[in-house]
Amino acid sequence: MAKSPSYSCSACGSSFTKWSGRCDGCGEWNTISEDTGLSVGPGANSLGSKRGTGIALSDLRTEEAPPPRTAAKMPELDRVLGGGLVPASAILVGGDPGIGKSTLLLQAAAQFARSGLKTIYVSGEEASAQVRMRAQRLGLADAPVQLAADTNLRNILTTLEAEAPGLAIIDSIQTMWLDTVDSAPGSVSQVRAAAHELTTFAKRKGVSVVLVGHVTKEGQIAGPRVVEHMVDTVLYFEGERGHQFRILRAVKNRFGPAEEIGVFEMTGAGLAEVTNPSALFLSERGTPSPGSVVFAGIEGTRPVLCELQALVAPTPHSQPRRTVVGWDGGRLAMILAVLEARCGIPFAGLDVYLNVAGGMKISEPAADLAVAAALLSAREDSALPADTVVFGEISLSGALRPAPQTENRLKEAQKLGFASAIAPKGGKAYGSQGMTLNLMSDLTGFVGEVFGA
Ligand code: TYD
Ligand code: MG
Repeated sequence: MAKSPSYSCSACGSSFTKWSGRCDGCGEWNTISEDTGLSVGPGANSLGSKRGTGIALSDLRTEEAPPPRTAAKMPELDRVLGGGLVPASAILVGGDPGIGKSTLLLQAAAQFARSGLKTIYVSGEEASAQVRMRAQRLGLADAPVQLAADTNLRNILTTLEAEAPGLAIIDSIQTMWLDTVDSAPGSVSQVRAAAHELTTFAKRKGVSVVLVGHVTKEGQIAGPRVVEHMVDTVLYFEGERGHQFRILRAVKNRFGPAEEIGVFEMTGAGLAEVTNPSALFLSERGTPSPGSVVFAGIEGTRPVLCELQALVAPTPHSQPRRTVVGWDGGRLAMILAVLEARCGIPFAGLDVYLNVAGGMKISEPAADLAVAAALLSAREDSALPADTVVFGEISLSGALRPAPQTENRLKEAQKLGFASAIAPKGGKAYGSQGMTLNLMSDLTGFVGEVFGA
């Protein structure tokens, strides 16, 4: 019986039985193409020849110590990995082209190799000589890293089998191809098959693999999302092109906390680690001005302070603009609606712009109150005191909900010279960490107290 064709989306990996112009899974256009998967030979539906044995969970020996992690001695990277590299783990590092993935991983490869972990860096995009040139520029030419330039996955697996490294970096998964898969490198089937081969190889041979994946919207090349579920850890390297800051974020981690971030700065000599991101994100802040508010946030396990900037101006258009950089547009619409419905402060006829300074992206709901404060401060043209931080979640009723890890937020703020905080009342009683606390239970109270409206 002929196999009916199947189709999959190169952005999100969803499968379909027929082609369409738009993916129902992720809403992207022109990303669906025919899936020429692995051939299905005779006996495809018969049982396997070997019988496995089950082990009772309680029979697993617990006294065996977990295998030690290897630290790269790059604290920002080690933290995102959950305290170093776990042996035989598979890691995906995704990011826009040109954001600095190859630079980061070459630096990491050098560090791991110097820590005694045998490391191979396989480049499918650059010749070994080019990688060496880059390493020279980064001052890593003497690091004991092995380089290979290949795109044929079978050859790469043979090399890895023979060399038996502790860590293999594959840059990038989209350039790899398997001869058993009948489609172009970068297609969904190739990327999925190559990632599958590499991750199973990692588990079988005890080699950690790092797969580099470009995030792309064109649909020509499969996005890293099609391999996310196959790996143990998914890291995204993000940042704005115009800014020198780069953030490595753990979006999935079987061996550590998710949402942990590492902060780097792109310099002429590669990526430099930023050990105190709050100081950096606030370094561009000038004199207190209307619309500017400092949010005391938490990223993963670490407090990070950053500046929110809002601009509110009468609109010349019939539809006022709502523009957000670094935060969620839907959440901004919600805050505007709550301000209007619960506090009677309309934003109709006003353009609203919101920006998180420094190219940082925030996803915490605890930023709600800081956003509301920035919007009100811009609208009323009145600046908040320069030494105040703000945090707290706003509910649709206009009530303020306490944010997690309050003490950490306050401690960080105090360390950076802030004297007071505006935060929600209630929740776990928290110590003031030596700061003046201005605790509020609802948004109306906040508006009245802070802006006298
Ligand atoms: P790269 O690591 O090649 O990005 P990716 O692998 O994610 O595509 O980084 C490319 C950019 O980084 C390029 O625009 C130049 C910049 N860069 C520096 O600013 N300093 C450096 O030392 C290096 C190596 C790159
Ligand atoms: Mg690259």
